[in-house]
Amino acid sequence: MLVELSLSNVSKSYEIDNQKLDVVQNISFKVKKRESIAIVGPSGCGKTTLLRMIGGLEMPTQGLIKFQGKQITEPHPKIMMIFQSFALLPWKTVLENVELALLDRPADERREKALRFLDMVGLDGFEGSYPRELSGGMRQRVGAARALAREPDILLLDEPFSALDALTATNLRNDLLRFYYDRKLKPDVMILITHNIEEAVSLGERVIVLSKRPGKIVADIKIDLERPKNSRDEKFAKYVDQITSLIT
Ligand SMILES: Nc1ncnc2c1ncn2[C@@H]1O[C@H](COP(=O)(O)OP(=O)(O)OP(=O)(O)O)[C@@H](O)[C@H]1O
Ligand SMILES: [Mg+2]
Repeated sequence: MLVELSLSNVSKSYEIDNQKLDVVQNISFKVKKRESIAIVGPSGCGKTTLLRMIGGLEMPTQGLIKFQGKQITEPHPKIMMIFQSFALLPWKTVLENVELALLDRPADERREKALRFLDMVGLDGFEGSYPRELSGGMRQRVGAARALAREPDILLLDEPFSALDALTATNLRNDLLRFYYDRKLKPDVMILITHNIEEAVSLGERVIVLSKRPGKIVADIKIDLERPKNSRDEKFAKYVDQITSLIT
């Protein structure tokens, strides 16, 4: 088994006004190369914190997070995050926003790659637009192009579809799956946080369920469904019911 990412007994607490706030506790799991994981759990149970630690934006208070056998202590160029809030720079064009992910590359390569990935996410022709001129779905596509253009081994997604209408979300979900299923394209691993249990079952090959804060793993469920997954399938509905009952 090729382990891409491992979390061993990861805990995180914050100190607020001399009070210790335990956010996540004793989280351990391994992610194989070519695996997609969905993480669900009640609001405030530490999901974003967990993802930020994997992204190297925060350090665990205890425990270890390793990517390809090495401890993560800072953001890794092969681990990219797509945020719920798009996180685009409003004064930069669509093309410039994507190029920001490629600042370590030569200018001509940067331009070529940014244009190619914008095209791949369906934004051909909008290179010169500013984020305010785009719909929410298009903004999230820019966020996706920016993350995908780095060709990351691991793509972290923090509720990336929750600000979008259902149809736009479905289209973007399918586009991301296309990248993930295509062995010639990156990412190799997706870790998705979501409140939407159907989304978790449809995107995750495994669904990890967290308890309320401090978040602990209450279940780690393998989703054994044929692709493409069909949400009207009886087995699909069973997974949704099982996970729902674990959360409520
Ligand atoms: N930088 C920080 N300093 C202090 N407390 C923090 C910090 N970041 C998060 N917290 C606290 O940690 C807890 C978990 O926050 P987090 O954003 O990880 O939850 P979440 O599961 O992503 O919630 P939601 O589903 O609402 O997005 C919250 O109580 C929050 O106030
Ligand atoms: Mg969150």
